[in-house]
Order: sequence, then C-alpha cells, then structure tokens
Amino acid sequence: MQSRLKATPKRPAIEVIRKYGSLPLVECYAGQLNQVFMNLISNAIDAIEDAYLESVAIVGEGRSGSITIQTDAIDQQVLIQIRDNGTGMSAEVQRRLLDPFFTTKPVGKGTGLGMAITHQIVTERHGGRLECISDVGQGTQFSIEIPLRQTLPEVRNDAIEPSESLAGIDA
Ligand SMILES: Nc1ncnc2c1ncn2[C@@H]1O[C@H](COP(=O)(O)OP(=O)(O)OP(=O)(O)O)[C@@H](O)[C@H]1O
Ligand SMILES: [Mg+2]
Repeated sequence: MQSRLKATPKRPAIEVIRKYGSLPLVECYAGQLNQVFMNLISNAIDAIEDAYLESVAIVGEGRSGSITIQTDAIDQQVLIQIRDNGTGMSAEVQRRLLDPFFTTKPVGKGTGLGMAITHQIVTERHGGRLECISDVGQGTQFSIEIPLRQTLPEVRNDAIEPSESLAGIDA
C-alpha cells in the first residue's frame, strides 16, 4: 500500500495524516477488518489520483492529496474514520456504492466488490455500522463503528488494537 502513496510522474505523494486515539483491544476478525481498511484506503488513493487527472478540487486549491485516518473509543464502540480529499461522489454513485459489481473504474481495474464486502464485514460479521459522507469536488469520509465485544466465542480469540492493523498501510 505504501508504494501507492509515493509520488508519480503524474502527481505528488499522497500524505497520510494519522490521528489515533488510544484504543482498547477490539474483538474482531482481524484479517477481515484489515481487508476493510485496505479497501477504503485504496478507494481513497484512486479518488485522489482521479482528482489530479481531472484537475478538480485539490489541484485547484493548491493542496496535495491526503488521507486522514482517525480512531476514537466511544462507549463500547471503536470509531474509525477514513477521509480523503479526492473526487468525492455524486448522489447517484453514493446510492449505488454498496451494490455488488458497481464500479466507475475502467474494466480490469475495479471489480465493484470492495464496498459490498466492506459493508458485509462491518455490519453482518461485526454488528457494526458503516456510514459515508461525500461531496463532489470536496472528498469523502467513511465512518466505521465496531462494538468492542462480540458475541461469538471464536471471535473473542482474535482481538486487535485497530491502529496495529492500520499500520499495514505502511507495509
Ligand atoms: N473514497 C472514494 N471516493 C470516490 N469514489 C469512491 C470512493 N470509494 C468508493 N467510490 C466509488 O464507489 C465505487 C465502488 O467502490 P468499490 O470499492 O465497491 O469498487 P471499486 O473500487 O470500483 O472496485 P474494487 O472491487 O476493486 O474495490 C467506485 O468505483 C467509486 O466510483
Ligand atoms: Mg474499491
């Protein structure tokens, strides 16, 4: 993932801004939650690349592309927010975001399954919530809420501190 953040001939490096609150361990399917973070971050990188290509938003404002990752503990939940200043999404794209096989990317690039799987892992597997706020030309923010405790015994053996998983971005 780190390699995709580096500068290319077409755009400067994408900055990752980390605002990690101290979090307790979260009972979860660690590998699946990792997949969620990677999917959201790779979508954010694509949206920032498209913003540079289309010369919208960030370029006009002379800022560089950035992804902000914030974590907080709230009651018996952890809140993870992933925000980008890429293209943003129209209302139509937002409406179809979770549809399996919905993609705006060229053939061979996106399968359109990333968000459907992400939603399934967060809501069905972990009893959490996934929310999205997006504006065209401004960017996108995804919020994920995961309860600290899960009811299934098999999951209890697989606890992580989410920023450990998020460290995978640098790998
Ligand atoms: N952060 C984002 N900014 C702008 N558009 C986004 C963002 N995240 C998702 N989208 C839009 O939602 C669509 C669906 O996303 P999803 O991750 O499901 O599929 P994909 O990225 O196209 O393909 P893949 O299956 O490889 O992830 C994308 O094609 C894109 O149009
Ligand atoms: Mg995707």
